[in-house]
Amino acid sequence: MSPEFKSQLTSAVALVEAKLNTLLPTTDQSLVADPMRHAVLNGGKRLRAFLVMESAALFDVPTSQSVYAASAIECIHAYSLVHDDLPCMDDDDLRRGLPTVHVKWDEATAVLVGDALQTIAFEILADQAAADSDAIRIQLISSIAKAAGADGMVLGQAQDIAAETATVPLTLEQITDLQANKTGALIKWSAQAGALLGGQSTDALGAYATALGLAFQIQDDVLDIEGDPEAAGKRLQKDADAGKATFVSILGLDEAKHRAKLLVEQANDVLSPYGAKADALRAVAQYVIERDK
Ligand code: IPE
Ligand code: IPE
Ligand code: MG
Ligand code: MG
Ligand code: MG
Repeated sequence: MSPEFKSQLTSAVALVEAKLNTLLPTTDQSLVADPMRHAVLNGGKRLRAFLVMESAALFDVPTSQSVYAASAIECIHAYSLVHDDLPCMDDDDLRRGLPTVHVKWDEATAVLVGDALQTIAFEILADQAAADSDAIRIQLISSIAKAAGADGMVLGQAQDIAAETATVPLTLEQITDLQANKTGALIKWSAQAGALLGGQSTDALGAYATALGLAFQIQDDVLDIEGDPEAAGKRLQKDADAGKATFVSILGLDEAKHRAKLLVEQANDVLSPYGAKADALRAVAQYVIERDK
């Protein structure tokens, strides 16, 4: 991680966490405030928030505005993790180095926290301060709903769970589709949100993020095999036993890593029209395949 990228990421993290701290309910307001805060505020790389704010910066959208979309996507992402860790899904007791919500509280709380984190994301995007116009706010809300829903992240999670018991192993094409939905959809939304905020075409950032999202999930699957659980803050070496369909399960470690590298090159190629303004987006793509957590 270059010192420049590190300091950019650190300041984006500080900004989005301060905003989330004001947006999330407090304990005097809600019975689920504590577990919501636990799920959102305790750690996380904030890559999706960073993608929102850096893609917005390409179009000179101020961070005081883009931090709303950044906060919204981090809430949706945290919800997806709370539900992903449930016993009926991946059954994980550790997340971001801490006990998962259903372990620290209980399963009903984890389900409700996920629900509340999802709806608060819509509330955040509906705020006047989240975009310049009602039309843009509606675009943000409808596109995040689509990315998170039955044709996006939820579909990917359903495909992921179905693959565990599939009698025939998934093809490379099917795994690519699964991962593009499961992980790619929210990452793509994050990178395109900046263009939506700036009232510009989302095409180039969409192509960048499609490649980046796949590279991101390949690295998640690689870390499951050879990562350090201490650094990752979650249990590793679970995918193979669970019968998960991953790029590593079909291609092997070396080929999967090679593919991730190619995907990052592909992602960065798309950014050339933006010149040096897109350096942070190039750096984050590199980080995605070098990260240890
Ligand atoms: C983990 O996402 C879940 C996947 C989509 C693979 P991240 O690796 O971005 O998790 P945090 O937010 O940094 O904890
Ligand atoms: C999680 O993917 C994807 C979503 C939460 C949508 P994984 O199940 O691979 O993520 P980890 O490894 O538990 O973080
Ligand atoms: Mg999972
Ligand atoms: Mg999981
Ligand atoms: Mg994983």
